[in-house]
Amino acid sequence: MHVPASTSSNTLDKKALVTGASRGIGASVARQLGRLGVDVALNYRSKGPRAQEVADELVALGRQALPIQGDITSAADLAATFDQIRALWGHLDLLVLNASGGLEQDKAADYAMQLNLTAQINLVHGALPLMPRGGRIVFVTSHLVHFYRKGTGYDGYETVAASKRAGEDALRAMIPSLSELGIRLVIVSGDLIEGTITPKLLERQSRGLIEKRRQAVGALPGVEEFAAAIVQAGVGEEYASGDTIYVGSTEL
Ligand SMILES: NC(=O)c1ccc[n+]([C@@H]2O[C@H](COP(=O)([O-])OP(=O)(O)OC[C@H]3O[C@@H](n4cnc5c(N)ncnc54)[C@H](OP(=O)(O)O)[C@@H]3O)[C@@H](O)[C@H]2O)c1
Repeated sequence: MHVPASTSSNTLDKKALVTGASRGIGASVARQLGRLGVDVALNYRSKGPRAQEVADELVALGRQALPIQGDITSAADLAATFDQIRALWGHLDLLVLNASGGLEQDKAADYAMQLNLTAQINLVHGALPLMPRGGRIVFVTSHLVHFYRKGTGYDGYETVAASKRAGEDALRAMIPSLSELGIRLVIVSGDLIEGTITPKLLERQSRGLIEKRRQAVGALPGVEEFAAAIVQAGVGEEYASGDTIYVGSTEL
């Protein structure tokens, strides 16, 4: 694959890995990072052509883009992912933990925990040897998950919410050791995001939930707005480790 040399104009001179960058919010995060001059490794599981489209857009902006197929629940795939990043860049400034799931029908009973807890921790452990002081990790979550213990979830989402909240808790428990390495963890939590797949899947079991949410809180945030907050968490200097950025109403 052709990876052009990075140009120095309009660049933050940073290297990022975005998980789940083939579509939805992750793809938007990758595009916005590219516009800020960040070179991006794009992890994807199955949507290779879509990841390649995002990569082509970044290359057209003069950025380096490295699409990497990998199931983040596979230790071998994670090792191969970080090997490729090490070979190309030798370091990583930003890890965006965006990829998520757990509503899949064809997976083992503990798949949501494997994906939303274990894989997130393994990603951090894989990235740390490549991260210099000043590095940043951003964990992407939703209000449904972040406020899961308030018991305001939707039918059919319990397994995902419990596993993703366990992932957030486990990452937060790493903050002291991350701080010793000079690395910050920032959490970004969003309301239901307009036009995305997850709320549409939830609608199957909780009819009318999207419309009810719009009526309760007004317009829901869109993909670009949510992605912009994730990008700011990744490159802005205003956040301390452990901060949570909320996008959309937190009214439950
Ligand atoms: N949608 C919402 O309303 C909403 C609201 C708040 C927060 N969020 C958060 O935003 C993030 C992205 O959500 P989204 O709605 O954009 O998700 P999505 O459309 O379902 O996309 C999920 C992404 O994760 C990837 N992925 C899933 N399982 C994977 C695995 N085992 N290994 C590697 N990649 C995997 C997918 O890759 P492939 O496509 O290649 O399979 C895809 O790129 C999630 O953390 C979610 O909790 C979403």
